[in-house]
Amino acid sequence: MRIVKEQSAPAFVSSRKPTLNWPLLATHLAGWLPALNIAWAAWQGRLSINPIQDVTFGTGLPALIFLVATLAVTPAITLTGWNWLAPIRRWLGLYSFFYATTHFLIFAVVDYGLDLALIGEAIVEKRYVLAGAAALLIMLPLALTSTRGWQKRLGRDWKFLHRAVYAAGLLAVLHFVWLVKADIREPLLYGAAVVGLLLLRVPAVRRRLNEWRRGWQARGRATPSPPKPVAED
Ligand code: HEM
Repeated sequence: MRIVKEQSAPAFVSSRKPTLNWPLLATHLAGWLPALNIAWAAWQGRLSINPIQDVTFGTGLPALIFLVATLAVTPAITLTGWNWLAPIRRWLGLYSFFYATTHFLIFAVVDYGLDLALIGEAIVEKRYVLAGAAALLIMLPLALTSTRGWQKRLGRDWKFLHRAVYAAGLLAVLHFVWLVKADIREPLLYGAAVVGLLLLRVPAVRRRLNEWRRGWQARGRATPSPPKPVAED
């Protein structure tokens, strides 16, 4: 009897079906939405009589929202065990940095005509500008070292460095609180989100959440299997 060997696929042919990463796709769509919204409003002539302020607000708020969303990813993974959320954290952070940088450039180039003396004066005299500048300065090294290469190169220091994202979040909220003249409810809402997410990172709280998730997963399973390890940030 002739034994027919099963032909294996050549090494360059992947046996895995290409799958679309929906969360990442949704992140990119959400990431471009504020920019498209501003461009569309400008194209339609729907900007106000103060278009610089429109664009400043239209980039500042997305910068803060994406920053808060970045901070929410790790607690969301702890709560759900959905490790596949991890790759979107980097992109959320990069979109936040993109809008924060555009926001600053509009202020420095368009509003202040790149007059360094005037910009320096604004930073010293207006506390909300100082807080915004500090937040952006913290975000810069985080964005530059967000790649896998830098993560490997920095090892444990990478994690330590990237915890500074919470400081950036708190400073961005302070920036918002200080620039609002009357109703500070909106900035305070973002402040509560940043503080709440920071509390969820406290080791004791995190441990409790992990225990709670494992118990919840075990109850939902007919045949118990060992708990899934949750990726650290
Ligand atoms: C050097 C850095 C920055 C400068 C010079 C700056 C400057 C400004 C200015 C001039 C305004 C408008 C104030 C007004 O017209 O009343 C503003 C608003 C705002 N900025 Fe910044 N900013 C900076 C960094 C940031 C960063 C890093 C974030 C967030 C990550 C941020 C988030 C916001 C928000 C949320 C608003 C209010 C938007 C709204 O009311 O809809 N800014 N910023």
